[in-house]
Amino acid sequence: MPTRCLQPLMRIVLALALHSQIQEAIAVEPVLPADNLPRVLALDAVPLGLAGLANDDLPVRAQVELGRRLFFDGVLSGNGKVSCASCHDPGRGFASADLLAVGIGGERGRRHAPALINRRFGRAFFWDGRAATLEEQALKPIASEKELGSSVAEVLTRLGEDATYREAFATAFEDGLTAANLARALASFQRAIVSGSSPVDRFIHGEVAALTDAQRQGLWLFESRGGCWKCHSGANYTDEAFHNTGVSWGREPLDLGRYEVTRNDDDRGRFKTPTLRSVALSPPYMHDGSLPTLRSVVEFYNRGGVKNPHLDRAMQPLDLSAAQVDQLVAFLEALTGAPLKDAGDLDRAKND
Ligand code: HEC
Ligand code: HEC
Repeated sequence: MPTRCLQPLMRIVLALALHSQIQEAIAVEPVLPADNLPRVLALDAVPLGLAGLANDDLPVRAQVELGRRLFFDGVLSGNGKVSCASCHDPGRGFASADLLAVGIGGERGRRHAPALINRRFGRAFFWDGRAATLEEQALKPIASEKELGSSVAEVLTRLGEDATYREAFATAFEDGLTAANLARALASFQRAIVSGSSPVDRFIHGEVAALTDAQRQGLWLFESRGGCWKCHSGANYTDEAFHNTGVSWGREPLDLGRYEVTRNDDDRGRFKTPTLRSVALSPPYMHDGSLPTLRSVVEFYNRGGVKNPHLDRAMQPLDLSAAQVDQLVAFLEALTGAPLKDAGDLDRAKND
């Protein structure tokens, strides 16, 4: 073919490539993370430190496996390019690196995507607790224009067109592919994300050398002068309640948190106390992602949070030295445990 015929063609190809690059630059969607989790998830082992937590709803393996596939699959989104994992990245404690969540078409939400650690023990979901169960929560991002940008009806149609999904639903549930079962599968997978057996748990169970001196000092500060235990209490390091720490007070538009759900004046600016288990995996922190590191969180508490008419009474300046701030950070880092384990590894460990 003569070269002068190729040139216009090349120009079109180049123009198309450039166009798609520009499109990409306009709509920066989060990446779709791959599923690099252990092949066979360990479901029945209770990690050290969690035995005291209610364990009534043991996930069913076929439902967990189906939920896992859905969690990573763009099929739940309007354009096939966003999944739950895009905002809840397994490599980051199932949270997001973005301060505010970025969803379909690069749409930005108004809150930070939280870590999905130990949600099995949660009592209310979302930063303001507006969903009562993981099942109720699971379908909301699908229909959210700023998250997955689809609808449950559309998703059910797409899943129904895929023979492998039809079969997986039929195996996992008596009544096969339904909205309730879609929610149940996603919730079941999340119930398998359980973090315990951290150095702090090993220390508490008698392995003194599991913590460094600094971490031990940090544990002491957490339980005494730091006052952290007042809200981050119990085996999951949360009282499952809502508090005003003032994080984003004064910012416009003001996010009133729990108040939006209850319309109770006392709830202005209150947000759910998050678990601190594996918290080092998931910066940035808080409902608005405004604190980039654990050190900045501890410094925030050291200042007594941000003054406002609804500030929780447990929030007081702490007057900690720089060394004590370091110790609290070291303690928080020692709360890290592997959220998902390979069932095979556990069996091998048992046989060793
Ligand atoms: C665009 C980003 C984005 C996508 C996609 C997304 N989420 Fe979220 N997720 C968020 C944000 C932001 C919040 C907090 C919203 C709030 O509190 O108002 C949240 C909250 C949650 C919570 C509540 C956790 C808690 O402790 O309260 C769960 C559970 C959850 N998401 C699961 C999912 C599942 C399952 C999917 C897929 C079906 C999904 N998310 C898709 C951003 C996202
Ligand atoms: C008055 C109750 C209260 C006290 C006291 C308290 N916290 Fe919190 N903590 C919360 C609430 C509520 C949030 C979420 C706030 C938000 O996002 O608006 C939070 C968030 C955090 C986070 C961020 C977690 C995440 O996933 O984003 C860390 C880390 C943390 N607290 C550690 C501590 C430490 C360390 C102390 C003691 C120095 C402490 N907290 C004292 C209630 C409290």
